[in-house]
Amino acid sequence: MCGIVGYIGKRKAVDVIIDGLKILEYRGYDSAGLSVFDGKKIVTVKKKGFVGELEKNAEGLQGFCGIGHTRWATHGAPSDSNSHPHLSGKFALVHNGIIENFDDIKRQLKEKGKRFLTDTDSEAAVRLIDDMYEGDVLKAVCGAVKKMKGSFAFAILCKDFPDKVFVVKKQSPLVVGLGEGECFVASDCMAFSKYTDKAVYLKDNEVGVVDKDGLSLFDFNLNKKNFRTEKTDIGDDYRLSENCSSFMYKEIFESPKALQYTAADFFADTATQKQVIDIFSKHDKVIMLGCGTAYNACLVGKNVFEKMLDVDCETELASEFRYKNPKVNSNTLVIAVSQSGETADTIAAVKLAKAKGAGIAVITNVRHSSLTRFADVVLHTKAGAEVAVAATKSYLTQTLMFLLVATLLREGSKVSEEIKKQILKLPQTAEQALKFDALMQKYAKKHCQKQSVFFIGRGMDYALAAEGTLKLKEVSYIHSEGFAAGELKHGTLALIDKNALVIAIATQRNVAEKTVNALHEVTARGGKVILLTCFEKLKDTKGAEVILLPQTGGLLMTAPAIIPLQLFAYHMSVERGINPDKPRNLAKSVTVE
Ligand code: F6R
Repeated sequence: MCGIVGYIGKRKAVDVIIDGLKILEYRGYDSAGLSVFDGKKIVTVKKKGFVGELEKNAEGLQGFCGIGHTRWATHGAPSDSNSHPHLSGKFALVHNGIIENFDDIKRQLKEKGKRFLTDTDSEAAVRLIDDMYEGDVLKAVCGAVKKMKGSFAFAILCKDFPDKVFVVKKQSPLVVGLGEGECFVASDCMAFSKYTDKAVYLKDNEVGVVDKDGLSLFDFNLNKKNFRTEKTDIGDDYRLSENCSSFMYKEIFESPKALQYTAADFFADTATQKQVIDIFSKHDKVIMLGCGTAYNACLVGKNVFEKMLDVDCETELASEFRYKNPKVNSNTLVIAVSQSGETADTIAAVKLAKAKGAGIAVITNVRHSSLTRFADVVLHTKAGAEVAVAATKSYLTQTLMFLLVATLLREGSKVSEEIKKQILKLPQTAEQALKFDALMQKYAKKHCQKQSVFFIGRGMDYALAAEGTLKLKEVSYIHSEGFAAGELKHGTLALIDKNALVIAIATQRNVAEKTVNALHEVTARGGKVILLTCFEKLKDTKGAEVILLPQTGGLLMTAPAIIPLQLFAYHMSVERGINPDKPRNLAKSVTVE
């Protein structure tokens, strides 16, 4: 949440910063701001609204060194003044994270006569640094951060050093890009990947100085630290082509490629396969955890593991797990799922499990993300950059990863060519599912005024219902819930009348007809039903509009079933005049609690 950018070098800083902020808008988009050295002083522009609004107001700003920020409000409503950078004396600062004890810091500084101009926690940080400054910025910053509780990535300018950007990291992500005679700072290397592919991922409790020639890194006691330069590996996925105006739509259509790369990479990576076999052999209980869509992928994972393996397996919401006293020990393997690898709740849950001795496997789409640092095994999904707030192709690759792992564990290191062939056919099935696009648009036109939409299914289909409903509510703002089909009659059926739309999913042979029974309970009460099934014999189900999905076999049905639901959510959003890429109140990478 919140995106940070910094630049020092030979280009016009404002151009690099605006370009970077536009790429990082997925991290928050309620306001944006920047500060640049114009040769004499620090000039700051901040605006409520999208980065485009800031761009109009920052036009013509001169200077080669600066910082910028795109915000997802935590403390203080979105407004010009609450936007970053925050200023104090000689300093300008941008922040991603939360200063939990900001009230205490604020009170102490107020007692010393300092004035505060915003409602944010971040202003407390810059005022504290300014208060501690006696000519040595790093000393002031280290002194200040030692007094702060919470999470932070800062990029800081100081008027006395017009050719430097100071950086600090604790828990929130921060990466420095090293170019030729120029350097970049960002929350995500996508922001500078068009200029350089050399990156240094800061670790927690590191502070640094960035100038045009590179980075110097220290711990919070100002001991110098070495660092490793990594090669970033970003394609062009994070940009929209001229003929596509939505990331969500583009990313749904990238699913076949994402599935293909993830499967091919896994089958080729014998080192990771060995690690997987090894770690599972040491643990007899599995807990899968994640948040939101990643959690929904765990629900699919649990179904896959239970059907394919003889293993004791649970799923947990990471945000709940972290505050429990979970029954976890050295026999437990936690599989944490996170597209971004930066979700604060998931990281906290993993830390807790690790402290109790659990083994940790991480399924993530971002190789150098914070979560991977706690992992014994990293399972890298190859979905490519996902920019839209709603996770689509990444979800599919997460569910595929569970299937790949289960297949490997069942078959041993020599997975037969026949099974590989079946899995490698998935991208083709995803292509077939994308052909439902026009149909889903038609349904969206027909149902976009509905006030409630329910998704039902059993077993694996219930897991898919959970994801279908999340997708719809987050991008269309329609009230929606997912239910185990058998549960309808235990209460929720009371909500069904002629205004309700129910989407039933029936892709699992053993329970499909049971789901159809629930569907009849709905139609008998006047509710409208769309049925997604892969079974020919259900295609004339009375009272339902039936979508006949390609048949791939039970555990491979995630892609063919979920893609039409993602398309439905997308078209519902568009029909309702919403920007599906930037739903209200949300941001993609949830780095705060
Ligand atoms: C919904 C969505 C969120 C994320 C959740 C976890 O479409 O994207 O529910 O799945 O915030 O994010 P990651 O996977 O980055 O940990």
